[in-house]
Parts: sequence; C-alpha cells; structure tokens
Amino acid sequence: MRLAIEQAERVKGSTYPNPPVGAVILDADGQVAGVGGTQPPGGPHAEVMALRDAGHRAAGGTAVVTLEPCNHHGRTPPCVDALVAAGVSRVVYAVGDPNPVAAGGSARMADAGIEVTAGVLADEVSRGPLREWLHKQRTGLPHVTWKFATSVDGRSAAADGSSQWITSEAARADVHRRRAVAEAIVVGTGTVFFDDPALTARLPDGTLADRQPLRVVVGEREVSSDSKVLNDDSRTMVIRTHDPHEVIRSLADRTDVLVEGGPTLAGAFLRAGVVNRILAYVAPILLGGPITAVDDVGVLSIAHAQRWRFDGIEAIGPDVLLSLVPN
Ligand SMILES: NC(=O)c1ccc[n+]([C@@H]2O[C@H](COP(=O)([O-])OP(=O)(O)OC[C@H]3O[C@@H](n4cnc5c(N)ncnc54)[C@H](OP(=O)(O)O)[C@@H]3O)[C@@H](O)[C@H]2O)c1
Repeated sequence: MRLAIEQAERVKGSTYPNPPVGAVILDADGQVAGVGGTQPPGGPHAEVMALRDAGHRAAGGTAVVTLEPCNHHGRTPPCVDALVAAGVSRVVYAVGDPNPVAAGGSARMADAGIEVTAGVLADEVSRGPLREWLHKQRTGLPHVTWKFATSVDGRSAAADGSSQWITSEAARADVHRRRAVAEAIVVGTGTVFFDDPALTARLPDGTLADRQPLRVVVGEREVSSDSKVLNDDSRTMVIRTHDPHEVIRSLADRTDVLVEGGPTLAGAFLRAGVVNRILAYVAPILLGGPITAVDDVGVLSIAHAQRWRFDGIEAIGPDVLLSLVPN
C-alpha cells in the first residue's frame, strides 16, 4: 500500500476532478508485477495502468489500490471489470469510494469471487494523497491550505516590508513542489504591491514546472499591468472583493487551493473559517517589528483562541514545516 501511495503522490494535481489514485499489482507469488497512477481526465485509472504494467502476471495475483475500484462507466469503463477480466484473485484497498455513482465496486468484485480487503492504511491515504479530493466530495468546496513563511517570532516580513527570503532555499523548493500540485494560488493585492511575486511553480534550476496553478489576486485596488503576476507564465484571475466566501465560490470547480497571504488576506480567510489546513514554514530567525504573519483572526481573549492541532512536523533544511488541521 505504501508503494501505491507513492504512485498516487506522483500523479497528485494532474487528475482533478478525478481522484489521484495509486495501484500496485502483485503476482501470484506476491512479487510486484506492475504499478500505476491515475492519468489526466479521460485517461486510464490507476488500476488499468498497473494491470497494463503487470500484463499476464496479474492472473491469480493481488491488486492493491488506494481507493475502492470504481464501478461505473464514466469517460472510462469500470475498473472492477478490468480487475475481473485480468483474473486477479484478491483486491486490497484503503478508502471506500464516497461517491455514490462510483461506489459498489467492492460488492461487485466479491460477487465475482474476488477476495476483498478494505481499510488498509486508510488514515494515511485520507490525510495524504486523497485529502483534498475527499474534502471536495464531502463538502462540494475546494480544500483550502493557508501557507506562510515566518520567523520564529511570528513575523512574515521585516519592519520595512521586505520578506524575501525568510526561509531557506530547501523550504522554498518545497513550496514550489506544492504549487505545482495545487490548482490555484491566492494572494491579496498587498502582496503583489510589496513583493511583486510571479506566483509560478518553478524547478530548482529556475525553469517553470510543467503544470502551473491559476494565480488569483484578491482586492479592490488596480494591479499594475507590469506586475509579474500578470505575465504569460500562467493564467491569472483578479477578484475584486474582500469576501473569502466569494473567492471560494469563484474557485468552486477546483479541488486544491493554496492561500499564500499576506497577513490581511490570511486573517480574513481564518476569520471566515474557510481554511482547512495551515502550512507554516518556520525559520530560525528573529525579525521583531510590526508585521505579523497574520492579522486579526477574530480572537479577543484566550478563551476564544482558534484551536488547531499538529498533523505533521518536518525538518526542511534549517527550517521546520508545521502542518496543522482544525481541532
Ligand atoms: N511571509 C509570507 O509568507 C508572506 C506572504 C505574503 C506576503 N507577505 C508580506 O506581507 C506584506 C503584505 O501584507 P498585506 O496584508 O498588505 O498583503 P495581502 O493580505 O496579500 O493584501 C492585502 C490586501 O488584500 C485585499 N483584501 C482581500 N480581502 C480582504 C479583506 N477581507 N479585508 C481587507 N483586505 C482584503 C485588500 O486589497 P485592496 O485594498 O486592494 O482592496 C488588502 O489591502 C508584505 O510585507 C509581504 O512581504 C509575507
């Protein structure tokens, strides 16, 4: 299943609105015979890719899949049919398909005499590769991550407004990997005026990644036409509002949205309760001064603090990445 999760992580970001799924086929002796991940919409699903990779070795073997194999004709035929036709004798999956149209794969396979095991590493898959897609299935809304870089004393810029760079090259490379997977990056006009960021996903050598998220600028002020955010490297949407809900509605067809600040916009999103995960890149530097990582989040006394819990803590070069989810 860990190998299947790896396959899912590789295709994450390229499959929406379909889920990023990974699959592994073991032959009858339990050896890895094939691996695969979901292809972009209209292309084969993970099970079919892994079956193709395994060829005749799938017969009598086991399919290990991060999501319950689908049981419906979408743009591609049901994956359960492919598994039955290939003659696999056992299917192991992590997470049941919450989509009523696609669900029922498990029962169909059991009817065909396949031994089915559900729930293996379900938590790891739900919090990992399928996190954003499952959120979208549950709520109908995109999953929103607020990402920011901060000094250890909670500042997101020095007193003069400069913030490039708070964190290390390694941490910034991690941000670029996440941008390449996200479908939209949101900032306020303030960040465009202060930092003039390109908001593109770039590789360590500075070249553009294959996939670029939609860039979204929120605010009422006019953004200068020579701002990097309006260059030709990706598409850009300007939303003239201060209402985070309106921003989310404008991005309703997306699954994975990254809010990159600054403190005013982040505060508005946190006050509105529309943030589903926080990623804090914390650098071992002190900045002091008035520019905090986030403005008012609507908390006046400690009794009303927004409570989150750590979902992951990771060292990245000299920095630390804290991942938090609502408590
Ligand atoms: N360390 C980091 O991760 C990070 C990330 C980004 C920025 N920064 C730093 O943050 C500073 C810029 O801060 P900032 O707060 O001006 O940036 P911002 O939050 O990106 O932009 C603020 C603007 O967003 C608009 N806006 C959207 N929704 C709003 C709402 N509900 N309420 C009020 N305004 C709303 C307003 O634009 P209009 O006035 O046009 O309506 C407001 O002026 C810079 O020093 C930058 O370097 C740091």
